Amino acid sequence: MTDLKQRLKTHPLTAPLYQRLYYLYYKSKSFTWTRLRRALNPSQWFKRLRNRKNSFDYRYGVDTSGRIGMLDLDINSPNRFKGVEYQGTHEILFKAVMDLPAIPKENTLFIDLGAGKGRALLLASFHPFARILGVEFAKQLCDIAQNNFRKFRDPAQRCTDLAIIHLDVTEYHLPDEPLLIYMSNPFNREIMQSVVGRVEERIQRSPAPVTIVYGNPRQVDVLNASPWLLEVSRTALDGASDPRVHQVFTVHRGHRPGA
Ligand SMILES: C[S@@+](CC[C@H](N)C(=O)[O-])C[C@H]1O[C@@H](n2cnc3c(N)ncnc32)[C@H](O)[C@@H]1O
Repeated sequence: MTDLKQRLKTHPLTAPLYQRLYYLYYKSKSFTWTRLRRALNPSQWFKRLRNRKNSFDYRYGVDTSGRIGMLDLDINSPNRFKGVEYQGTHEILFKAVMDLPAIPKENTLFIDLGAGKGRALLLASFHPFARILGVEFAKQLCDIAQNNFRKFRDPAQRCTDLAIIHLDVTEYHLPDEPLLIYMSNPFNREIMQSVVGRVEERIQRSPAPVTIVYGNPRQVDVLNASPWLLEVSRTALDGASDPRVHQVFTVHRGHRPGA
């Protein structure tokens, strides 16, 4: 049954219908009369406007918010329906995860696999990484990210070498320098297996350290099944004032068995 569901979800012929139906189901599940009443209440409109003014995008004049499903993106890859919809990492959560111990920064290349509009890349620029790079298979999102790089300015930025590559992550060759790989629940199990395979190759090829930060780690068992990766921490992080902002992050370190 789960096998059939998986096939319906990822086959190019059935995936569009499956995803539309799932979206309607998901929306209907979250419908409540309280929500509707709140949506029609003018005082809530002002509250929302105030929140928007405090938002990351408003403060920096960038475009990183919203949710964009695979159906609404022009993606030329057989893995299109194996990806998770775009949604940027929450600013507070990203700040908290970067403060965890065991997160290398100096002399390290930060790579976001499934970078979307580049919010995590922009947030990473507040840290002293050597370079910051995103890999994303939706061309529209890469263009938005590049536009964001041009607009984003803050005196607190510690790295201004930002780039994004328009590519499927399964085709990306991980470089031999020290790496911090960031993933925020970007794809399904099959793609994660391929990515972990690439990470294993990279660890065998080069002694430069590899660390993986994985947010909302749905496929964490794939990482834990690898003898080349060690889970060093698993932390539930919260947004201080908003109870809806809550996410688990794992940190894995590249490790040579027997070393
Ligand atoms: C949940 S969003 C993550 C956004 C971003 N990492 C952040 O934190 O702001 C997942 C992103 O992964 C991208 N993606 C999914 N599968 C991919 C693949 N096989 N290759 C490249 N990008 C992929 C999607 O297009 C989407 O933009």
